[in-house]
Amino acid sequence: MLVQVLTLFPEMFSGVLGASILKRAQARGLLTVRVIDLRQFGIGRHRVCDDYPFGGGPGMVMRVDVVVPAVEWAMAQSEEPARLLWMSPQGRLLNQAWCRELAQSSHLILVAGHYEGIDQRAFEILGGEEVSIGNYVLTGGEIPAMVVLDAVARLIPGALGDAESARQDSFSEDWPLLEGPQYTRPSEYRGHRVPEVLLSGHHAKIAAWRREAGWRKTAMVRPDLLSSETSSSSPDTGGHSVIQGGNKE
Ligand SMILES: C[S@@+](CC[C@H](N)C(=O)[O-])C[C@H]1O[C@@H](n2cnc3c(N)ncnc32)[C@H](O)[C@@H]1O
Repeated sequence: MLVQVLTLFPEMFSGVLGASILKRAQARGLLTVRVIDLRQFGIGRHRVCDDYPFGGGPGMVMRVDVVVPAVEWAMAQSEEPARLLWMSPQGRLLNQAWCRELAQSSHLILVAGHYEGIDQRAFEILGGEEVSIGNYVLTGGEIPAMVVLDAVARLIPGALGDAESARQDSFSEDWPLLEGPQYTRPSEYRGHRVPEVLLSGHHAKIAAWRREAGWRKTAMVRPDLLSSETSSSSPDTGGHSVIQGGNKE
């Protein structure tokens, strides 16, 4: 998968790309990330990328005649058609189901806005999808772009050491609720013991306990993920009737 990120602050990405799963996915040739400095496409000697908003108001707006040529240039770098994603608090909320879908793509372009955002005409001209990572406003689209990149890249087949772990995560296809609690050694710490069943070696009982623990956690902190049908039935039903992906807030 090729991911191109367009940003005014390319330096923000080095840490996140140089560690953990994102680093490993690139080293394994599963993922290529190109961080493109929007300032290269800036206007004039000073490479200006923003200007005052028409109609007045606070802050600056990123110029359409900077952003559009930059995205078009990025698109031309690959023969694979790109899926264009604009980071925006006004976009559709990101969820795990959408990440799974994006992980099937071979080419993504993520555009990070800054200041008051990007001139609306860039979106009108180029199309694409606006992605929000939550109902709050960040300073720029760089952190949202990192969130999208991380959440998608770990779902590329081969990116995780153990593919099973993504299937057991919260919001996964096999288990669209929350995952239950996890424990490791020591088995007792300050009087807190690990649930006995996890030490039993009995795989079927452990699986049943984990399902139930995940169901209870969901019912306690995210009841919105359980449909009314499921919330009145037992966690053992397996055929969970739930709101897929947890896109509600
Ligand atoms: C300060 S915000 C602009 C907010 C805009 N004036 C508004 O009220 O909708 C600057 C940039 O940060 C990014 N951003 C901020 N919050 C975001 C969120 N929750 N999800 C995705 N991107 C976000 C977007 O790229 C946005 O263009």
